[in-house]
Amino acid sequence: MTKKESGKARRLRFEIFRYNPEDPESEPHMQAFEIDEAPYMSLYIALNQIRETLDPSLQFDFACRSAICGSCGMMVNGRPTLGCRTLTSDLPEVVRLHPLPVFKLIGDLSVDTGTWFREMVEKSEAWIHAKEAFDPQAKEARMDDDLAQAIYEGERCIECGCCVASCGVANVNQNFAGPAGLNRIARFMMDPRDQRSDAEWFEVVSNSDGVFGCLGMMACHDVCPKELPLLEVYAYLRRKTLVAAFAGRS
Ligand code: SF4
Ligand code: FES
Repeated sequence: MTKKESGKARRLRFEIFRYNPEDPESEPHMQAFEIDEAPYMSLYIALNQIRETLDPSLQFDFACRSAICGSCGMMVNGRPTLGCRTLTSDLPEVVRLHPLPVFKLIGDLSVDTGTWFREMVEKSEAWIHAKEAFDPQAKEARMDDDLAQAIYEGERCIECGCCVASCGVANVNQNFAGPAGLNRIARFMMDPRDQRSDAEWFEVVSNSDGVFGCLGMMACHDVCPKELPLLEVYAYLRRKTLVAAFAGRS
C-alpha cells in the first residue's frame, strides 16, 4: 500500500541488489534495509540515508537531483525510472531496487551508461555532417521555428537509459541503436545542417540494428521521464527510410 493510500507513517523496507564485479569474493544477492519514511522523501534521500546510517559501501549514482543529469536511472519494483524524482510516498512499503539492465554494471545500483551512449553516437555518427568547410564569417543561417522546435524535442533526452533498459530488443541485441539512439539519429536526420544523403541515412538506420529492429512494444514511450515523443520518432524514421529506399530505385 502506498503512503497516499494508507495515510500513516510507514517503515519502509528496501530490498537492494548488491554485487561488486571488481571483487572476486562478491556474489550477486539482495540485501534488505529498513528506514522510517520522512515527508516528501525521494529515493535519493532514502538511499543516502541508508548509505549514511546503515551501509557506507552501497553504490548508486545521483548528481543533479532534478531529472537533468540522467545519472540516477534504476529499476524500481521492476520499472526503469529516475531515483531522484521518485517519491517513496508513491511506492509500497517494500521497494525492490535493481541496476538498469543492458548497461555495464559498476556495482550495486550504479551502471556505466556513458560507454553505451558513446558507442551508439560513434556507430551512427550522430553529429552534423556538413559538406562545406565551416566559414566563421558566414551569416548565421535561419531555421524554420517548427523545425527548430522538433530538433529541440530530440535534444531534451538526458541519456538516462531508462528507455534502453525497458526495451526488449536492446536487452537481447547489444548492437541495437535503442530508443535513445534512434531519437538521436532522427534529431540529426531532420537537421538541415546535416547534409548526409538519403542513401547515407539508409545505411545508418535501415536495418535490424536500426529502426527495423524495433518490435513496437513501446515500453520506452511509457517510461521516458522526459516524455519524449518516441512513437513519433520511429514513425518519422520509417517514413524517411521508405522515401530513401524508393529514391534509390529510381
Ligand atoms: Fe532517458 Fe527518455 Fe532519453 Fe531514453 S529517450 S535516454 S528514457 S530521456
Ligand atoms: Fe540527475 Fe536524477 S540525479 S537525473
